[in-house]
Amino acid sequence: MAPVDMRQMLAVAILAAGKGTRMRSAHPKVLQPLGGATLVDWVLQACELLNPQRRLVVVGHQAERVRQHMQRHHQHVEFVLQQPQKGTGHGVQQLLQPLGNFTGTLLVLNGDVPLLRSATLGQLVRHHRQSGSAVTLLTARLEDPRGYGRVFCNDQQQVTAIVEDRDCTAEQRRNRLINGGVYCFHWPSVAAVLPHLKAENQQREIYLTDAVGLLEPATPFTVEDATEISGVNDRGQLAACEQVLQQRLRQQWLAAGVSFLDPASCSLSLGTRLGRDVVVAPQTHFRGNNSIGDGCRIGPSALIEDSQLDEGVEVMFSVVRQARLARGCTVGPFAHLRPGTVLGEHCKVGNFVEVKNSHLGADVKASHLSYLGDAQLGRGVNVGAGTITANFDGTSKHPTAIGEGSSIGANTVLVAPVTVGRDVTVAAGSTITKDVTDHALAVARCRQVEKKGWHKTADPHGSNTVASSTPGPAAEPS
Ligand code: UD1
Ligand code: CA
Repeated sequence: MAPVDMRQMLAVAILAAGKGTRMRSAHPKVLQPLGGATLVDWVLQACELLNPQRRLVVVGHQAERVRQHMQRHHQHVEFVLQQPQKGTGHGVQQLLQPLGNFTGTLLVLNGDVPLLRSATLGQLVRHHRQSGSAVTLLTARLEDPRGYGRVFCNDQQQVTAIVEDRDCTAEQRRNRLINGGVYCFHWPSVAAVLPHLKAENQQREIYLTDAVGLLEPATPFTVEDATEISGVNDRGQLAACEQVLQQRLRQQWLAAGVSFLDPASCSLSLGTRLGRDVVVAPQTHFRGNNSIGDGCRIGPSALIEDSQLDEGVEVMFSVVRQARLARGCTVGPFAHLRPGTVLGEHCKVGNFVEVKNSHLGADVKASHLSYLGDAQLGRGVNVGAGTITANFDGTSKHPTAIGEGSSIGANTVLVAPVTVGRDVTVAAGSTITKDVTDHALAVARCRQVEKKGWHKTADPHGSNTVASSTPGPAAEPS
């Protein structure tokens, strides 16, 4: 076996410790929502295709929240604490200990550059290795370079200094070559200069950009598409990035065989997978991780979050969250499938039906005006209009079970915990408080009372009506 070239080892470090003051938010900037994920998710995702040996995330401001989010959504991430946060250079100084004697390439990315493409990062790393530079950094030439660090080069096109916008002279500010905040370092070289960085700037911070100025050779790598290095510092930039990402996601799925009837009115997420011949109607939104099978028709007006829909499912004007729908189900209009809903094949959940934490077997129909919570329904159960599982006694939630083939009459209340057997018929309007055995008919309601010859006449003194005879106790069945 060929010996491993240690210079070819790749570690990725994402700077995600900053507060993001310009966001004016209670949440850390890197967790701001973007494209159905968060800012930092997109940055890490862009690195995945490079197959790095190590993924380090520098956390500081609200470190625990950022850590928990990353652990939930990504594997093999190492966290490095930067406390307090004294600048981007200070952030990278925290890697000296965890990276130790690492001799490979360290790709450092600001946690707020979500539009980077994997391909661009791949080119950057390749260029860096081929040129043998101590550092290679992504640069762009912008029409409006305001807010970015300016990159200054010598005659050999090597970077001599990066000066932050706020530290620039009026003359320097005219330079339109900016620093994208993405750097490939030969780790031993940058490790040697990191301890010498000083906070001699307007913000009194330790700048990573000063390390670039101390390294030789420092090579700029200019991106073709300058939008890729857009940094997100405020809400306006966040909204602009959302537009770009949504456009990219739609293009990706259009190319993969998905139809959008009104693409601009729909939104997608990083973790949504759409099958072939899926049709997405207007005003449809996907969030989190979804898997949508071939031939599904989603929308108009649907919200699908963290759900799995098998082939041929139709969802219209409905909300589906943390649910699994087997092939051929139809949902809506105006249904709400809440977390823990599992629908077997060809179920129908119709208008104004809410389902929570319930398993419906194949071919179950709940077509109108129902609530099914903490319930298990066998194959082929028919849920009459207005059926409610009363699953909450004021203190705890209780389960309802309905066996295969049973038919629940309209306006039934199933007071949980309760078990209805298979092939049972429950009469309409029943309040079921006791278990029902297989094949039975359950009727749990007052008998209809009929009072012969009891009719109403007009009150001579007003518009009220009065009974012409005294009927006795009105509610008492005879
Ligand atoms: C930085 C660069 C600037 C570049 C721009 C590109 C520096 C000094 N400046 O400026 O040259 O043009 O990015 O977008 O690096 N962070 C930490 N710890 C800290 C401070 C920040 O982890 O102590 C993180 C932030 O969470 C953020 C990233 O580093 O993800 C960049 O910080 P930010 O303050 O946004 O830097 P810029 O002013 O945009
Ligand atoms: Ca920034």
